[in-house]
Amino acid sequence: MKTFYIKTFGCQMNVYDSQRIVSMLRGRGMVQTESVEDADIIILNTCSVREKATNKVFSELGRIRDRKKTSALFGIIGCVARESGADAFRRIPELNFVLGPQSYHKLPMILDNPDARLLNIDLSGLEKFDELPPMTDSPAVAYIPIQEGCNHCCTYCIVPYTRGRELSRAFEDVMRDVRDAAAGGAIEICFLGQNVNGYRDKDSRTLADLCRDTAKIDSIKRIRFTSSYPTEMSDDLIELFGTEPKLLPFLNMPIQSGSPDVLTRMNRPYSLELYIDIVRKLRAARSDIQISSDFIVGFPGETDADFEMTCDIARLVGYINSYSFKYSPRPHTAAAIMRDQIPENIKKERLKILDDILTENNRAFNESCVGQTMSCLIEGPDKTGRHIIARTPYMQKVIVPAMPEQRVEEQKSKRVKNKHQLSYSPTLLLSVKITSANKCSLRGEIAA
Ligand code: SAH
Ligand code: F3S
Repeated sequence: MKTFYIKTFGCQMNVYDSQRIVSMLRGRGMVQTESVEDADIIILNTCSVREKATNKVFSELGRIRDRKKTSALFGIIGCVARESGADAFRRIPELNFVLGPQSYHKLPMILDNPDARLLNIDLSGLEKFDELPPMTDSPAVAYIPIQEGCNHCCTYCIVPYTRGRELSRAFEDVMRDVRDAAAGGAIEICFLGQNVNGYRDKDSRTLADLCRDTAKIDSIKRIRFTSSYPTEMSDDLIELFGTEPKLLPFLNMPIQSGSPDVLTRMNRPYSLELYIDIVRKLRAARSDIQISSDFIVGFPGETDADFEMTCDIARLVGYINSYSFKYSPRPHTAAAIMRDQIPENIKKERLKILDDILTENNRAFNESCVGQTMSCLIEGPDKTGRHIIARTPYMQKVIVPAMPEQRVEEQKSKRVKNKHQLSYSPTLLLSVKITSANKCSLRGEIAA
């Protein structure tokens, strides 16, 4: 029996794409392996959003080349494939295939012609969704892409180049994925898109419509989506946070910078006033909503004063669970050739300052949760096997003592025994009373 090895880097979109590829390879009678040495086909699904991510892929490729069977088919798919194109073959001559994020449904071509070399980095739109088989066994959280690409063209971002112009999937196709995921055991749906709230199908149905229809499915208990572009938050979607209890009160809505000048040069044409007004409307719709952001520090030309404004907005909005990055110049982007690139040591200093603010926000919010009872989604046991790790509606990690077996039975859920003989259900929502908190996680107990 042939075996395959697949390693995924980067965003949830890649995780989803890898799951579809796994279904396809299993459908051809192949078996997944964790061992590069044994694999007959080796696939790296890659990310190129920052230079470090791209470099990581090439060093991994170098390591694999030395360990793999000589007969193994070996290739990269995803954004580094698209970024590097034929150059990937020059850097790693042993590669058999290089397939961009919209062309890996072409993988069977190389399986059928193992002596060929395959390069395809076309932007063929939504074809892959039709050609790859659906996923079968869903995890508790199902990530479902609803669009490909992005039309925003932020000047630092390689995504519009690697994933192309924005295309929304058909409403019915997305809902079919949702129903399949629910039937496979998912209880949380996370809609994915580079500009997820820009979703529009051919009849102008929106992300809010997708959320509403998904909420009607009984077994789906939690709905969320990522990443939202600030100015595409429609009033309809904002109001849904107030009216649809299954929509989690947590939203990733990246601001990137708190400086109007930097935002202009990033080609993110919204004012701070407008952004803050959207946050205000969200909080009016649902008072307990929390917002997370992505930030870039050290964008070309960013002054100390610009950076101060980013720190100010991070404190003012009180973002939680946010991501912060040092600006990384990427090929095919306008910012890479802007003047006044910021030296690495300054980027590093600024990142540390911002990270301290974001950590403080997390700590303050985590502490404010102590005493509350929250409905949390079980992820699985911790390393010791004596605790369960679950996620709050705000995606905070909460550690709970292992629950009595009886309780699992009461919940009538599928039981799983891990090697520590801890009983837990992978698809269970638990009511947890938060008992303590630190900057990274919460501790709690199962509420009576
Ligand atoms: N809308 C997308 C964003 C893709 S990239 C999404 O769905 O997540 C994810 C984050 O990486 C961006 O929000 C931005 O903060 C960061 N990023 C993108 N390009 C970058 C670059 N060249 N350097 C540093 N950070 C970058
Ligand atoms: Fe990138 Fe900006 Fe789109 S960050 S993915 S171009 S919204």
